[in-house]
Amino acid sequence: MKWTLIFLLGSALVVGTMGWTYHHSNNKMNWSQAREFCQNNYTDMVAIQSQEENDYLVSLLPNRSSSPYYWIGITKAHKNDPWTWVGNNSTWIGDHSWAQNEPNNNHSTEFCVEIYVNGGANRGKWNDEKCANLKYPVCYKAQCTATSCGRGRCQETIKNITCHCEPGFEGDRCQTAVQCAPLSQPDGGYLNCSGENQTFNSTCTFGCYLGFLLLGSSDLTCGTDGVWSGPRPVCASYKQLLMAVAGCGAFSAICCICFCCIKHRKRKKLAQPREPEEVTNPSNETLG
Ligand SMILES: *[C@@H]1O[C@H](CO)[C@@H](O)[C@H](O)[C@H]1NC(C)=O
Ligand SMILES: *[C@@H]1O[C@H](CO)[C@@H](O)[C@H](O)[C@H]1NC(C)=O
Ligand SMILES: *[C@@H]1O[C@H](CO)[C@@H](O)[C@H](O)[C@H]1NC(C)=O
Ligand SMILES: *[C@@H]1O[C@H](CO)[C@@H](O)[C@H](O)[C@H]1NC(C)=O
Ligand SMILES: *[C@@H]1O[C@H](CO)[C@@H](O)[C@H](O)[C@H]1NC(C)=O
Ligand SMILES: *[C@@H]1O[C@H](CO)[C@@H](O)[C@H](O)[C@H]1NC(C)=O
Ligand SMILES: *[C@@H]1O[C@H](CO)[C@@H](O)[C@H](O)[C@H]1NC(C)=O
Ligand SMILES: *[C@@H]1O[C@H](CO)[C@@H](O)[C@H](O)[C@H]1NC(C)=O
Repeated sequence: MKWTLIFLLGSALVVGTMGWTYHHSNNKMNWSQAREFCQNNYTDMVAIQSQEENDYLVSLLPNRSSSPYYWIGITKAHKNDPWTWVGNNSTWIGDHSWAQNEPNNNHSTEFCVEIYVNGGANRGKWNDEKCANLKYPVCYKAQCTATSCGRGRCQETIKNITCHCEPGFEGDRCQTAVQCAPLSQPDGGYLNCSGENQTFNSTCTFGCYLGFLLLGSSDLTCGTDGVWSGPRPVCASYKQLLMAVAGCGAFSAICCICFCCIKHRKRKKLAQPREPEEVTNPSNETLG
């Protein structure tokens, strides 16, 4: 990745080729002025959401041996409020973000946060400070725009953006609707689909010509997972249907006969053991 430093009227501008970019000013200001500066010239004050981003930001900012303090976009309104990033209300704080013994709210009104960018042990650590103090602002310029991710949510990542697609859409910019397996028209019928391609949210309506009967659902919709809402219906001719019914009738008849046969045999089998019993008692017969 190629990074270029452009110095403009005392404010340094870091230009990246992709993804969000970080920017700072070489003029010190209080926290509110710093935020205003960021909003006027870029997107907002910097938001840090991981240790990786923290380290990356620190690696881009110039070291300062005296007064190595930069304002970052995390603050709180009252003593007992949680620290909150101004960009999006996130409350992320890493396990190793604060400098030792910080935040200490030394002046009981330390509601703003600075980051140390020097060569010492506190490099990249945070400290709570009085918002009226003057420090260098660090800003970011977002690369996500309303159109970055066609049908998805855009997330800024280091040197890149990531699109999280709505269900039914795919592609690295969520630009493509999920495709369902193309449906063909049935034998003896026709097919009408909404939209040019059979993609997510397309509906196809099936119909059959005269002399044919539609078996199955006439409307199918392409779902978010690229699967049709049901099986493809078929058009059956009445001749086929009659034969099917006849076949079914014949089948039923065969079934019936088999069933009767089995039942008959079973009855015979059950009847068999009784016969010897009758035979063992010949007196009855002789008497009768
Ligand atoms: C952050 O929260 C405040 C108060 O709950 C709300 O007014 C503001 O719109 C929120 N900002 C964002 C970016 O969500
Ligand atoms: C807050 O914004 C930052 C910077 O745009 C982003 O990296 C982070 O994911 C966001 N956090 C949340 C919880 O939306
Ligand atoms: C609190 O601030 C005073 C200056 O106002 C400073 O002398 C002192 O060292 C600070 N204490 C801590 C714990 O940072
Ligand atoms: C700033 O200081 C750190 C730690 O001493 C060093 O690793 C880094 O190379 C320095 N960066 C610049 C731009 O001088
Ligand atoms: C920051 O500076 C501006 C302009 O000088 C001033 O109006 C504002 O009250 C200051 N804010 C703080 C918190 O000191
Ligand atoms: C940026 O992210 C896309 C996917 O969202 C990926 O295909 C691409 O390789 C990434 N580019 C860089 C430079 O990391
Ligand atoms: C339909 O698919 C073709 C080829 O994949 C594509 O060129 C066209 O833009 C698509 N049409 C719509 C409306 O998505
Ligand atoms: C699906 O299509 C219906 C009607 O055509 C439309 O109202 C709806 O917004 C579409 N849904 C999506 C997610 O595109």
